[in-house]
Amino acid sequence: MKPSILVARAIFPETLARLSEHFEVESNQVDHIFTPQELAAKLQGKHGLLCTGSARVDATQLAQTPMLRAVANMAVGYDNLDLAACTAHQVMATNTPDVLNQTTADFAWALLMATARRVTEAEHWLRAGNWEKWSYDAFLGADIHGATLGILGMGRIGQAIARRSSGFDMQVLYHNRSRLSESQEAYANNARYVSKQELLATADHLVLILPYSAQTHHAIGAPELAMMKPSATLVNVARGGIVDDAALIAALRQKKIAAAGLDVFEGEPKFHPDFLTLENVVLTPHIASASESTRRAMAECAADNLIAALTHQKPPNLLNP
Ligand code: GLV
Ligand code: GLV
Repeated sequence: MKPSILVARAIFPETLARLSEHFEVESNQVDHIFTPQELAAKLQGKHGLLCTGSARVDATQLAQTPMLRAVANMAVGYDNLDLAACTAHQVMATNTPDVLNQTTADFAWALLMATARRVTEAEHWLRAGNWEKWSYDAFLGADIHGATLGILGMGRIGQAIARRSSGFDMQVLYHNRSRLSESQEAYANNARYVSKQELLATADHLVLILPYSAQTHHAIGAPELAMMKPSATLVNVARGGIVDDAALIAALRQKKIAAAGLDVFEGEPKFHPDFLTLENVVLTPHIASASESTRRAMAECAADNLIAALTHQKPPNLLNP
């Protein structure tokens, strides 16, 4: 008998077809986000789960699903999975690293440039029929070339973001749990390791790309925002919860920093409604990895992991060996 799996969000039909060769598949092509109770009910009798960050897999969930042997997260970040609880329940957990590094780095730049140069704000103004009111000081933004790029969280994506800055003649500063090797720093446009304090005080454009955890919760709150330059741009392509959104809204309102570009939010898909009242933000719905080829690669990577896990092989991206 084939193992049974749940695919908790809609996914490419090609990936579903491939999974169906190996498994009895229950899928959620209507793409409704399951509540924890619905997820537990759907997981009864299932051996595997393919999910995204919108599914929380913790001790409470696992206690109700004794058959479950593997969870394949279709994301590089896995703060939605309690790895210790997975291990305690002998559930293999996997993610989709590397396939999205370059695409996510591209998007960090899209967001940084749109934010610093006020692209979406200007487009809204144009669409509203205001062009006749153009003046010399309309939509003055911050230069990117020659500026200091700060990166908080210098994993593979952070390094890919830094590398792209060489064409803009930027100086790169970073802070990370550990310092990179010399060759990694060279790859990352000669990035220089500094304290978090120096990073905040010196960056003209600060990009957040660190994993979310209890330790990084509100890594950027009111005290950190107060240390930044009033002319600075903040970009978050990491996770909601790394920034204290209420504190960020206050800082943007009081012009303690110039602008923010945000792809992730506390409590998404809901988010603080006051963001919508601000002009100096660019808001996107968690799409940094959303290129056609990368999303397909992520789906295939998650499927590879699940197939390996449930056919007695070691999944390529096992998080809890
Ligand atoms: C997206 O946020 C991911 O973690 O892949
Ligand atoms: C970077 O933050 C990564 O997870 O690769």
